[in-house]
Amino acid sequence: MKLTGAAHFEKRKKADLLVLPFWQHEKQASPAFSLSLLESGKKAIQALLETGDFKGKEGEVAVLYLDKQPEKRCVLLGLGKEKLLHIEGLRRSYGTLAKTCLGKKWLSLNVVVPEKTQLSESELGRGMSEGLLLANYHIPSLKHSQPDQDGNENKLIHSIHWVGASSKAITQESEKAFKLCQAVYYVRDLVNGNADEVTPPYLAQQVKELGRQYPEIKVTVFDKKRIEKEHLDLLLAVNRGSSLDPAFLILEYRGNPQSKDHTVIVGKGITYDTGGLNIKSSGMETMKCDMAGAATAIGIILAARHLKLKVNVTAVAPVTENCTDANSFKPGDVYKSHHGKTVEMTNSDAEGRLILADALSYASKKLKPTRIIDMATLTGAIDIALGSEAAGMLSSDEMLAAALIQAGQTTFERVWRMPLYDEYLERLKSDIADLKSWNGRSAGSCVAAIFLREFVDPSISWAHLDIASTAYGTDNKKYLPKYATGMGVRLIIELLEHLPKAKAKS
Ligand code: BES
Ligand code: ZN
Ligand code: ZN
Repeated sequence: MKLTGAAHFEKRKKADLLVLPFWQHEKQASPAFSLSLLESGKKAIQALLETGDFKGKEGEVAVLYLDKQPEKRCVLLGLGKEKLLHIEGLRRSYGTLAKTCLGKKWLSLNVVVPEKTQLSESELGRGMSEGLLLANYHIPSLKHSQPDQDGNENKLIHSIHWVGASSKAITQESEKAFKLCQAVYYVRDLVNGNADEVTPPYLAQQVKELGRQYPEIKVTVFDKKRIEKEHLDLLLAVNRGSSLDPAFLILEYRGNPQSKDHTVIVGKGITYDTGGLNIKSSGMETMKCDMAGAATAIGIILAARHLKLKVNVTAVAPVTENCTDANSFKPGDVYKSHHGKTVEMTNSDAEGRLILADALSYASKKLKPTRIIDMATLTGAIDIALGSEAAGMLSSDEMLAAALIQAGQTTFERVWRMPLYDEYLERLKSDIADLKSWNGRSAGSCVAAIFLREFVDPSISWAHLDIASTAYGTDNKKYLPKYATGMGVRLIIELLEHLPKAKAKS
């Protein structure tokens, strides 16, 4: 991806497309200088506006063909009402634009920057870049179809030149967005891959490769023997039904070695969830997504490295399949956890909380974290409660909860706090073990979180993010592709960038 910028309108290079921003109900292009220079297009643009064929609504697109311009064509891009402009609106408009470009194979863009907005240039740059880049993605294709005559199958936008960027802010923001999106694409590729390819051994090999490629990332992979030695016994229980060994991944990035502040991200890594012996009666076809938490945790380490963040962050991912097999763990049986507490496994489809319990307890005991955030496609119930508009967030720490909500608003990877009432724990009382893993559908997401809380050292600040409805979807959002979204990388990076300075020094 080539990202460049210049203040001048005149010195544009050849490109597939010139993008001109428009406000809704304004009869003039913004910035004005571009319209005055486009004499050949002036009439056509005025006709589009006067007839109302183009209104400048958010994400609205109209194509024009202009004489004597370095671009093959010009797109008028609606940004909605000027007074209502905000970063998320920019993401949506430029995301829609990127999707149009991908469909038409317009891959090099000269993008005129809107001027005199109430947003700063860096905010403008962030919104436009994130919209364009988050949408600039193709799922690695498994289709048999041949590339078209131009060999253009699945090509991506490869060059963006910002026109009228008076300061460096726009190119800086777009470079930052690109680094972030590298991690987001990595997460999406892992989640979108076939479950029979993206297996526990495959993930282990991928993260080892990251460790070789990036010396700033220290990678440790526990194999089955080591997992047995560490007594990650709930992970082993879930793994029983699988023909593939489990893996336990640890990726460490130390951007501020002087500081003791340390964030651990724990990600659920079920590479496929059949439900186990409580075999799923519906929805199994989306269950390759059940390692999205693990993929996101890995993506956060990658993004922290690419952005050279001055923070210490570790990703921990317990990884296994949850299979229906003669060897599968049996509902009703009791297993001991890494923590020591025993668990009556009341539903083998509630496997996520089991492997997370061991990872949370391992992280609490061994990694000396300041805070732990776990990310998991944990419950279908979170989709019933919130849909794909927000991830569920449950936290025992007011400050961390507030910081996550704030980061969610900035990135629009929103989180909605749900209660962690002590009473929910009552529902997990067992006659034969320290606790049950599951007790029916009522308050499903909250009870799952209260189960997890039992395995976190109470002195550690902790939050749980249920990303079951946001990590993977079949609806096509404005700047998100279908299927894996990569949700959570931008959220946590935003959080890490704004960690309280005082704590970071301690
Ligand atoms: N992986 C699922 C949760 C899930 C559902 C993720 C939909 C993504 C989309 C989880 O392991 C699961 O099976 N949960 C069950 C409930 C369980 C407690 C019996 C569910 O949510 O239905
Ligand atoms: Zn399950
Ligand atoms: Zn699951």
